[in-house]
Amino acid sequence: MTKATQLTISASTGEQYPAYVGTDIQEHFSRFWEESVKTPECMVIIDERVEELHTDFLRAQLADSSIDILDWYVVPSGESSKCWSQYQAIVDRALQQGILRTTPVLVIGGGVTGDLGGFAASSIMRGLPLVHWPTTLLAMVDSSIGGKTGINHSRGKNLIGSFYQPKGIWIDSQLLTTLDRRDWYNGISEIIKYSYLADPSIIDTLSQCEVDKLKNNPIPINSLIEKSVRIKANIVAKDAREAGIRAVLNLGHTFGHAMEVMGKYGTLAHGEAVYAGMIAALEASNMLGAQFDMGRILTFKGWYDLHLDDYTNNIDTLIEFMYQDKKSTSDGIRLVLLEDWAAPYVSLVEESLIQKAYERMFEHLS
Ligand SMILES: NC(=O)c1ccc[n+]([C@@H]2O[C@H](COP(=O)([O-])OP(=O)(O)OC[C@H]3O[C@@H](n4cnc5c(N)ncnc54)[C@H](O)[C@@H]3O)[C@@H](O)[C@H]2O)c1
Repeated sequence: MTKATQLTISASTGEQYPAYVGTDIQEHFSRFWEESVKTPECMVIIDERVEELHTDFLRAQLADSSIDILDWYVVPSGESSKCWSQYQAIVDRALQQGILRTTPVLVIGGGVTGDLGGFAASSIMRGLPLVHWPTTLLAMVDSSIGGKTGINHSRGKNLIGSFYQPKGIWIDSQLLTTLDRRDWYNGISEIIKYSYLADPSIIDTLSQCEVDKLKNNPIPINSLIEKSVRIKANIVAKDAREAGIRAVLNLGHTFGHAMEVMGKYGTLAHGEAVYAGMIAALEASNMLGAQFDMGRILTFKGWYDLHLDDYTNNIDTLIEFMYQDKKSTSDGIRLVLLEDWAAPYVSLVEESLIQKAYERMFEHLS
């Protein structure tokens, strides 16, 4: 039997749930389900592309564990699905199908399906049991962990949502073999983030990893996933509702979200915006006294195909979008910065510093 690593995630709000990590771990699914939700049925919310590629495998795994599928809702692939109309369609379907308050919702897909399906699960009948089955690297290392759900608004990303912990997270990295290169690197951005926040050694491992090697070798990727889940879980254990320390997980995100919003979520993928945003955040940190060697993060530049021309001459607009980010306050823009490796802090900063950080980031990436 293939080994699955079992982790326990404990949120500071009191919930505790299992996360199983491994490759080819389907034999463990029945036990996982029993520990998570027990009910032998579910409503599935699934990403369109994952359905195209993996339906037989997924349905067989549920059947082998004697789980009935009450409904199977397919979410069109792409960030634009994190919207009101998809949310409403899921609510309509769940209610039409006679979903009960005890019916688990199994969300299978990347961060988009996870955030959307998680938000629907958190609000239908004031909350249905939720299980995440992440299928992108980004969702495995980040979005499925810790209970943030949400949809976007034209005025900003994730402006509508909830904190809602799942009952369990199933991470089988064999699904990553079908992931596009671009989505591998999107996930890697969040892993780079964890390295700066908590574990400098991760970036050394990453610099030796080409995606083709990772794709065919589950050992390093599972180890990177496990390390990432543990780092995020550690933070969620202290502050599940982002009253304090959890905010550090937004390293690079305030810069990046502004770029995503300005590009109407169609130009840069989330992980690409986060990579660019982290470069700006490191530059801002250096301007305030840190001494990061920018060469370390820039070694990954060639992995990303970033088209930044539309942003370069629009820093003022980006700064306006930063004010609308929900992490900003009435006092100004708050950024996650670093004193050093594994030493993050949050601070209100001057607009001029943000301007300079964006300029340097564009210089690095042009
Ligand atoms: N909730 C959180 O804490 C949190 C944290 C980080 C990011 N996010 C959100 O996550 C989203 C980005 O997630 P993402 O990068 O996973 O994007 P995504 O969900 O759009 O997935 C990326 C692409 O991969 C495809 N895909 C998914 N699984 C696949 C597989 N196994 N094989 C082949 N293709 C597959 C999808 O169809 C899509 O085209 C953003 O909306 C971001 O805001 C949320």
